[in-house]
Amino acid sequence: MASDSLISPISFSKEACLITILDQRFLPQKEVYRELKSISDVIDAIKSLAVRGAPLLGVTGSYAVCIAINESSDFYHLDKLLELLSASRPTAVNLKWAAQRVRKSLGTIWNKEKLLSQAFKIACEIHSEDEQMCRQIGLASRSVIKDNFSILTICNTGYLATGGQGSAFSCFLENMDKNIQVFAMETRPLLQGARLTMYELRKAKIASHLIADSAAAVTMLKKKINIVITGSDRVASNGDAANKIGTFQIAIASKYHNIPFYIACPTSTFDLHINSGNDIPVEERHPEELLTILGNKYPEYSCYNPAFDVTPAELITGYITEKGILNAKQIKSIV
Ligand code: MRU
Repeated sequence: MASDSLISPISFSKEACLITILDQRFLPQKEVYRELKSISDVIDAIKSLAVRGAPLLGVTGSYAVCIAINESSDFYHLDKLLELLSASRPTAVNLKWAAQRVRKSLGTIWNKEKLLSQAFKIACEIHSEDEQMCRQIGLASRSVIKDNFSILTICNTGYLATGGQGSAFSCFLENMDKNIQVFAMETRPLLQGARLTMYELRKAKIASHLIADSAAAVTMLKKKINIVITGSDRVASNGDAANKIGTFQIAIASKYHNIPFYIACPTSTFDLHINSGNDIPVEERHPEELLTILGNKYPEYSCYNPAFDVTPAELITGYITEKGILNAKQIKSIV
C-alpha cells in the first residue's frame, strides 16, 4: 500500500511569496532545491524541466499566480504575466487550467493583500485536491491490476510529476500487496524514466527493471507484460491522449500483443474544449537535447524533437481516474 509522501517536489511560502522546487534536472545524483521568486524564475524552471509532469505543472501554475499578483500593479499586468506562464509549456492542459481557476476566483477589485490571500487559498485547494485524486486513481486501478502482474510504463508519473503520489505511479503503489513488477522505459532524450521513475520505484521498494525505449515491444513478449499504464498531459473529448513521446508506439505494440493499455490521470487532464487529439498543441523541444551524443555536440545535424505524441482513443482500453475507470464514450458525461 502507499506510504506517506516519499518525495516532496514543491512547496510555497506565503510570507516570502516564493515557490521552492526540487530541481529535477539533477536527479537522481543530487537533491538540489531551488527558490522561484519571480514569474521569469517560474517560466525558466518550467521550460528547463526543473519542474515538470502535467499535474505538478498545474500545482506550480496555481502558486505562480501568487507570485504574478505580487509582481503586478493591476489586472492587465497580471493577465499578461499569466499568458506568458501558461504558454511556457503548451501540451499539458493542467498548467493553463490551474492558473485560470485561480485567476477566475479573484474578482474585480485590485487589493494586493486580499488577492494574494485568495490566490493562495485556491492554490492550496488545487494542491490538496490533486493529492487526493492521485490516491483515488491508485485505488481505482485495483480492479485491473491482478496478482503477479508485470506492468510497463513510460516517462515519470509519480511524486515528481504530481501534487501527490502520482497518476500511473499511484497505481503501482496501491497494488504493492500483489507482487507486481514494473518495467520502466528509459524515456529518451531526457531520461525521465531512467532518472526519475527508477529513483521513485526504488525509494518505494517496488520490484523494477529499466529497459531501453526500443526494447518495449520485445519486453511485452519475453517478460509477459500483463498491462501498460501511462500518464497523460491532455486528453481530448474523444479520448485521444497526449503523453510523452514514445507512448503512441507502445499503444500500437500493446494492441499487437493483445495487452490492455490504460491512461491514468486526474480529470483535470481532460480538455473538453477540444474534440480530438488533432487540436492538442505538441511541444517541440530544442534540437540540442537530441544532438548531444555521448557528450559530443552535433549542431550541424537537422532533427525533429517532439516532446509528446498523441495516442488515438481506439488504442486506449480505459482511463483510470479519481472518478473510476472510464471508457472514451463516458468522458463527456462523467468528467
Ligand atoms: O516532459 P515531461 O517530463 O513534463 O513529461 C511528463 C509526461 O509525459 C508524463 O507522463 C505526464 O505529464 C503525465 S504525469 C502524471
